[in-house]
Amino acid sequence: MESKEFLSTLLKEVAYPGFTRDIISFGIVKDIVTEDDKVKILLELPKEDQELAQKITIGINNAFSREGLDYPELQFSAYQNKSSQVQQPANSPDSEPNPKLPNISKYIAIASGKGGVGKSTVAINLALAFSKKIKNFGLMDADIWGPSVPMMCGIDTKPMATKDEKILPIEKFNIKMMSIGFLLSDEDTVIWRGPMVHGAIKQFIEDVEWEGVDNLVVDLPPGTGDAHLSLIQTVPLNGGIIVTTPQDVALLDVKRGIQMFKKLNVPVLGVIENMSYLQNGDQIIDIFGRGGGKEMAEKFDVPFLGEIPIDPEIRKGGDNGEPIVFSNPDSPSSKAFEEIAEKLLDIF
Ligand SMILES: Nc1ncnc2c1ncn2[C@@H]1O[C@H](COP(=O)(O)OP(=O)(O)OP(=O)(O)O)[C@@H](O)[C@H]1O
Ligand SMILES: [Mg+2]
Repeated sequence: MESKEFLSTLLKEVAYPGFTRDIISFGIVKDIVTEDDKVKILLELPKEDQELAQKITIGINNAFSREGLDYPELQFSAYQNKSSQVQQPANSPDSEPNPKLPNISKYIAIASGKGGVGKSTVAINLALAFSKKIKNFGLMDADIWGPSVPMMCGIDTKPMATKDEKILPIEKFNIKMMSIGFLLSDEDTVIWRGPMVHGAIKQFIEDVEWEGVDNLVVDLPPGTGDAHLSLIQTVPLNGGIIVTTPQDVALLDVKRGIQMFKKLNVPVLGVIENMSYLQNGDQIIDIFGRGGGKEMAEKFDVPFLGEIPIDPEIRKGGDNGEPIVFSNPDSPSSKAFEEIAEKLLDIF
């Protein structure tokens, strides 16, 4: 008979559906009982949820069969039935090893394989478009090596700390924001190395006072390598968006982006094609070969979320700290961001 320690380690291989973290660290495994060659696992879900229970059952059964073990007996109960207090699993008092996660219900990451495709532009303008529709959006600039939020949002003040030494995000355009660029100069950020980077992202989640923020848009650094994988794992992501431009060289990386999120068990919410075309009056000029993003999304069976045109106003807004959705909300480009935000709110 396998020891409880072994079984507990095995259960750590099972991700909580929709999250990168495992069911043990979420604190939903209440007991492991081994009796007469049988294993019984007691699990407590935040509320009664057949579908969730089924997904967890499949995950556990797979982990057991990988080890050549018989399926265990699973017994699910619901936290909500015992207490009137509704708890998010990420913030459950039992959630080890990280009970310091803030009360954020959704983390949405914006990624790209290739740099310079407009990821930060999309992250900022989408956060603004979302916040017009629902309140309490936050924006976290996780691009430790090349933070863009300070310049693109025109912020040159430093954040303050609370009495209990949490960093207060900076609020602008009705959004709470955090960026390493608020704390360090550009020269400081380039020399950052692995462990420091991880520490910073973890701190951005745990040590920033995100009170009042329900949804957080996370602007990731460009790339999909191993360094990114482990960096992204420090954030409990609920969904990922991939930004690409229409050129083949960027499109090749869409596949890597999708694979990265899949590896982390993060649902891919879709692909956005940025710099799709140039509009001149009624005339549409297709500069980079419009439509590749849509084709890629179809090929990998993920939603295509929409196209953003090439617009000098977008670039200007980025350079002078006034994102277009704020400075010119009626422009066709702002409308494109808003349509994408609406689509995302429908599916998410
Ligand atoms: N649709 C657009 N039309 C015109 N300019 C754009 C558009 N999207 C982004 N830009 C400009 O392109 C440049 C790169 O954009 P951005 O910094 O958002 O890309 P990124 O993918 O975040 O880059 P990095 O990989 O460095 O993080 C910026 O100057 C930005 O203003
Ligand atoms: Mg960027």
